[in-house]
Amino acid sequence: MDDSKTYWLDAWKEGNTPWDLKKPHQATSYLLNRYTELRLRDNKEKLHVFIPGAGRAHDAQVFLDAGHKVTAMDIAPQAVEYGQKAFFQKDFTYLKGDILSAFSISQSASKVDIIFDRAVLCALPHQQRLTYSQVCHHILKKHGAFISIPFYTMPTPKYWQGPPFLLSPKELMELFSDNFYVLSMEYSRFSKENEMQEYLMILEKK
Ligand SMILES: C[S@@+](CC[C@H](N)C(=O)[O-])C[C@H]1O[C@@H](n2cnc3c(N)ncnc32)[C@H](O)[C@@H]1O
Repeated sequence: MDDSKTYWLDAWKEGNTPWDLKKPHQATSYLLNRYTELRLRDNKEKLHVFIPGAGRAHDAQVFLDAGHKVTAMDIAPQAVEYGQKAFFQKDFTYLKGDILSAFSISQSASKVDIIFDRAVLCALPHQQRLTYSQVCHHILKKHGAFISIPFYTMPTPKYWQGPPFLLSPKELMELFSDNFYVLSMEYSRFSKENEMQEYLMILEKK
């Protein structure tokens, strides 16, 4: 198993989950509304949302409340167990698995309308990110959306080892621009001023 996976599995075993907000991120409902506006989607249309690296999956609540169906995935059994108990309802499924090999999220599920990623890109080392962007591209429907709240860390030695691993706007564009259009990209006005600047991003599969 590679070092980054061992890191995450150990963090969960030790209960060391400092990224966990204990509630949905403030920007999640903003991003869902923004996407609905930009795509002129009918608010009542039921969409299938995939949340990779979902952790305790608090963000699932926003999509479930809006009437959508959610499939979450994480490698950590503790995350999956928590999410399965917290969202015990028919429109929610939590799968234990590695998102880098999730080319089919389940045998029965068709492709998804939205992928929602908060702090997953920076959880993956550089050499795994191209595969991640390819997986995301593969499991999205045509014109499906990759909605993300990435962290950009400052290029200081603290982040060379990771996680979180360094992530820059340039790298993000290199990973996604061939296969996605940028619908919206902005600094997050929801995040605190610190060395981990959050962005709000909505990409559309070409
Ligand atoms: C920084 S946390 C973010 C969790 C969640 N998105 C949130 O906002 O609370 C990154 C998560 O990705 C999961 N993860 C890391 N690598 C993964 C992989 N290859 N496959 C699935 N999950 C992974 C970790 O277990 C962890 O829960």
